[in-house]
Amino acid sequence: MPGTVYSPVLSGGSCAGWKAKLHMTVNILCIGDLVGQAGRNLLAGQLPSFITDHNVDLVVCNAENVAGGSGLTPANFEEILRHGVDVVTLGDHVYRRREIVPILESSARIVRPANLSCKAAGKRWTVVETKSGGCRAGVVCVLGQMFMKPADSPWASIDQCLGEMDDDVRIRIVDFHAEASSEKIAMGWHLNGRVSIVFGTHTHIPTADARILDKGTAYISDLGMTGPYDSILGRRKDHVLKALTTSMRVRFDVARGDPRMCGILVGVEAATGKAVSIERVEVSGRVQEEAYHEGGGQ
Ligand SMILES: [Fe+2]
Ligand SMILES: [Fe+2]
Repeated sequence: MPGTVYSPVLSGGSCAGWKAKLHMTVNILCIGDLVGQAGRNLLAGQLPSFITDHNVDLVVCNAENVAGGSGLTPANFEEILRHGVDVVTLGDHVYRRREIVPILESSARIVRPANLSCKAAGKRWTVVETKSGGCRAGVVCVLGQMFMKPADSPWASIDQCLGEMDDDVRIRIVDFHAEASSEKIAMGWHLNGRVSIVFGTHTHIPTADARILDKGTAYISDLGMTGPYDSILGRRKDHVLKALTTSMRVRFDVARGDPRMCGILVGVEAATGKAVSIERVEVSGRVQEEAYHEGGGQ
């Protein structure tokens, strides 16, 4: 059903002005791995109205799967910013499309995983103003180590990034791009009380464990993807099943059916950076028939 939202409207609103800011709850939308054309079309159709209807003051989106299911192009980046995304995080597919490198090096609205080589292109963290201005938010992403390609310690890396941010950046958001739920919840507790939000990405499956940890950090193990759910993790079922059942090499094209925007909507107290509310978000959209090309990439 188009436009279905499984989330109450939360209190909050403008952040302009320091006095207002002290008592303000900032509504932050975090959305999971944006996949292919279906994900982009869904974002175009649903995100602007969601931002208005829910008084969203900051949108963070993991966009590692946008270009044909892997990577992100400069055109993709500009497009999703136009739809209302404020900060893009990435994951293990960060450099799949090399043309994104100049954007990684120049824009404050995109971060690469912090625990790659110190020589890797891109920023390890960023600080941006919220949409209404007046509040600043820091955003970092790190890669997990379990069942993932080698990366530096996410524990040391996240501590270093947080230590480098100004102390007055109270709102802090961490994307932990990891496979293992055990490693993800461990990161939640590692950062409990030190950041506003820890959300997991990478598995493309939304988890049912959204909660606020006891020191004020909103946590979920995985946001789920923003893309086609009539699929296997965003790829065509028939292609993946053929590969799995025949042991043959098959190209995994991006699927199109049952697109949903998944994530969390978190209320964060501007003065302290503590989370005060968290709700899962799941918005369904129409199948984008015109965007689908049988047997081709997107
Ligand atoms: Fe990933
Ligand atoms: Fe992903």
